Amino acid sequence: MPKIKVALIGVGNCASSFIQGIQYYTASKDSKGLRHPTLAGFDPKDIQVVAAFDVDERKVGKDLSEAIFAQPNNAPKVCDLPKTGVKVAKGPLLDGVGDSTKLLIQISKAQDADVVKVLKASGAEIMINLLPSGARKATEWYAQQALAAGCALINATPNFLASDAVWAKKFADANLPLVGDDLVDQVGSTALHKTLLKLLSDNGVHINETYQLDVGGGTESVDTMERTRDTKRTIKTESVASALPYKTEVVAGSTDYVDFLQNKRDSYFWISGTYFCNIPLIIDLKFQTTDAPNAGSVLFDVLRAVKVALIKQEKGAIELVCAYGFKHPPKMLSLEVAEKAFKEFIA
Ligand SMILES: NC(=O)c1ccc[n+]([C@@H]2O[C@H](COP(=O)([O-])OP(=O)(O)OC[C@H]3O[C@@H](n4cnc5c(N)ncnc54)[C@H](O)[C@@H]3O)[C@@H](O)[C@H]2O)c1
Repeated sequence: MPKIKVALIGVGNCASSFIQGIQYYTASKDSKGLRHPTLAGFDPKDIQVVAAFDVDERKVGKDLSEAIFAQPNNAPKVCDLPKTGVKVAKGPLLDGVGDSTKLLIQISKAQDADVVKVLKASGAEIMINLLPSGARKATEWYAQQALAAGCALINATPNFLASDAVWAKKFADANLPLVGDDLVDQVGSTALHKTLLKLLSDNGVHINETYQLDVGGGTESVDTMERTRDTKRTIKTESVASALPYKTEVVAGSTDYVDFLQNKRDSYFWISGTYFCNIPLIIDLKFQTTDAPNAGSVLFDVLRAVKVALIKQEKGAIELVCAYGFKHPPKMLSLEVAEKAFKEFIA
């Protein structure tokens, strides 16, 4: 198969797990842990990162194999990486760093690269936006660079591009696919929450109130607390509420940062409902995951699906891929319908 050539914007924890995942699944015959070991004929070994941008001096100018393990990244190391030959280029800072994260990120003094030139020279066909969630201006700036360089765009951040009609049109006009916004996790708290609610509701339980709150230890948790707590809460709450056929009290969204958790995330769920003869029922549970690896499998899937979209010459927001892989797609579908539509798209 031809390689899927990718440019990464932000060499943080998600980028670290994504790149390690390519090496891990290329080196091993074992595909355990992947939702789609092969998708439309493409395996993880067919993914090649050809360009990457960051602003932290511990990453800029370094080979990707080294940069992904530089602080403040704290995603788990699962394999050694050979040199990739791809050096992290310096992107413009814009609003990439907030008041709280500037204590964690050391801004490089290197000159900003000509991003479009680097993208074109690398042969990148798909850009993955892995900027901090509060970097709205930087997200839009890189989206513009993707358009100028002729790259499709995957927006993993909770900034609105694919779900914004103006941006969707810009990509449609440029004959390029766009997917987003806010990547779902492979085993995410939102999906687990929705599945529990649907199971209960399908069995006649009436949900009276429910919440889901998180505690995490990555840089992203700091950024979320300062800059995107409300947006994340709105996205997650709307998504969870869509699992029920009636309106009820729902709150879902990240809450706090605990540094010693490292890249781990503790998710707390509370569901209160009633069943036969108004008898009460409570679910009160904790679920622990590690953040960055939780993005890997879905990123592999949406990346290969965007390659399919490029082959099919689809353009603008690719709604079926967005509904499968993102929490804030242009059009929300139920988990089952999204899964079925995605399978049909990649078939
Ligand atoms: N499971 C998951 O981790 C998951 C799930 C859904 C969505 N996301 C989203 O993915 C994004 C990345 O998450 P992460 O945990 O890797 O974050 P991170 O904070 O570890 O990484 C962000 C990287 O962007 C770099 N950066 C900041 N400003 C920049 C600029 N102007 N140009 C280039 N690089 C810049 C930072 O130095 C850092 O290396 C976030 O928006 C997050 O909401 C992650």
